[in-house]
Amino acid sequence: MSDIPDAPSASQSCEIIPERFDIEPFTMVIFGGTGDLSRRKLLPTLFHLCEDRNLPDNFSIIGFASKERSDEDYRSLVRDSIKEFGEGEFSDRCWENFSSHLYYTSGGFDDNESYRRLSKRLEEVSIPTKGGTREIIYYLAVPPQFLPDIFERFSLCNLCNNTFNSRIIIEKPFGQNRKSAAALNQLIARSFNESQVYRIDHYLGKETVQNILFFRFANSIFEPLWNRRYIDHVQITVAESLGIGSRAGFYEKAGVVRDIVQNHMMQILALVAMEPPISLEADHIRDEKVKVYRTIRNMDESYIDRFTVRGQYGTGKINNKDVSSYRNEKETYPGSDTPTYFAGKLYIDNWRWADVPFYLRTGKRLKERITEISIHFRQPPLRLFSSACEIREPNILVLGVQPHEEIALHIGVKHPGIGNQLYPVNMRFNYEKDLRGDIHFPLPYERLLLDCMKGDQTLFASQDGIESMWAVVDPIIEQWEHTPAPEFPNYIAGSWGPEKAAQLIEKDGRQWRIA
Ligand code: BG6
Repeated sequence: MSDIPDAPSASQSCEIIPERFDIEPFTMVIFGGTGDLSRRKLLPTLFHLCEDRNLPDNFSIIGFASKERSDEDYRSLVRDSIKEFGEGEFSDRCWENFSSHLYYTSGGFDDNESYRRLSKRLEEVSIPTKGGTREIIYYLAVPPQFLPDIFERFSLCNLCNNTFNSRIIIEKPFGQNRKSAAALNQLIARSFNESQVYRIDHYLGKETVQNILFFRFANSIFEPLWNRRYIDHVQITVAESLGIGSRAGFYEKAGVVRDIVQNHMMQILALVAMEPPISLEADHIRDEKVKVYRTIRNMDESYIDRFTVRGQYGTGKINNKDVSSYRNEKETYPGSDTPTYFAGKLYIDNWRWADVPFYLRTGKRLKERITEISIHFRQPPLRLFSSACEIREPNILVLGVQPHEEIALHIGVKHPGIGNQLYPVNMRFNYEKDLRGDIHFPLPYERLLLDCMKGDQTLFASQDGIESMWAVVDPIIEQWEHTPAPEFPNYIAGSWGPEKAAQLIEKDGRQWRIA
């Protein structure tokens, strides 16, 4: 065997000096500071940020929730949460530092007196910046029904302006449809300027989702091909093997379109399809995304019937273990019609994408957990070569988001031999292998919390962005909710979804890449 040296790995070509940012002293108030999201994600993330010295010396975190608790009780709840849900070894030394920044205030979200107490607490614990402002971040980790009460009191109790220089982070779901999202935006606008509002979507915090923009606009060789002349179609898959767990209360009202398509999938779609922004400024990027949503072809009843597929999982096996059907999950309604699977064909009616289908699919309890985008290029105009395999693969560019963070380009090469046979191979960049494992993938919340602390809104949805994403999916939700789905459950847990989803793409002479 010949001794071919490895190509130099990316990490050898230049030394990357980690960027550091100066973050002003701040206080974060977590509404719902003892809830599931806080315990699983927010508090462990804040702890890691502190451990990695990404937080300023002066910061405070106030948990705000209904139950009476002392600061000490709260610290012990936070400590348990970090131990249970945090990554890596728990460090007592870091805990000692971190816990000295933690406080708790109890109160009802609809009780004015509680907000006055909170305001007083903020005066006590928040440390002014050099410029003399008090930077406050309100994290609303609460179910959406509490939001109107909270926003009303923000302005009533003077918590948003004047004394405090504030920002708010709002979790999904942001509304139930376009109308309620617009109403929520109006409510927010009574107390906050748009520049203070951070609507979070954790998919935008994923490294490989951010990489879509880097890949497209930092490499000059792909952008000239990134259009209808060279691209046959695009597939976006967000497949989960998990079921709904203990979230029936939320999921029964949401369903797959509100849970995944309206936000995560629309964000990915926009990053793939948008025009180059004139700069990396938040609004330049966000405005380009909005243009994509506005050019997605309207879906009327017959379009939805023909080009979308809904599904709900039945019993089956995942990793050789029996799993129950959606209707048998804890606390789902008997005979529930809530969809857990979506597939659809969308068109973006603009100069770049006219007539290029975008096939989207997502579902729970599918065979594997995979999120990927694949760009399928057109076949060459003449078939000059015979093929070693039966399937004639076009060039495909695969952007793997999870679990494999990689970029692969499928190309055809000559199969060695005396014949003229074409053979499909991959050119692959894999983050872990090619950067030789010396990289740290920040968790989505790490990145997003830091961005909010820095005041960078790029990775957060804008007011018009969120409303136009809803405008795309509203007709599907409405139609599905008004027409029964008699064939549910229509896919086996552990499969790739309903048969109709395969037919949707096969009718066009194409196939799902993963099936
Ligand atoms: C959440 C959804 O937004 O995203 C969940 O509410 C889903 O239903 C989750 O499981 C998927 O996120 P990830 O990061 O595991 O792909």
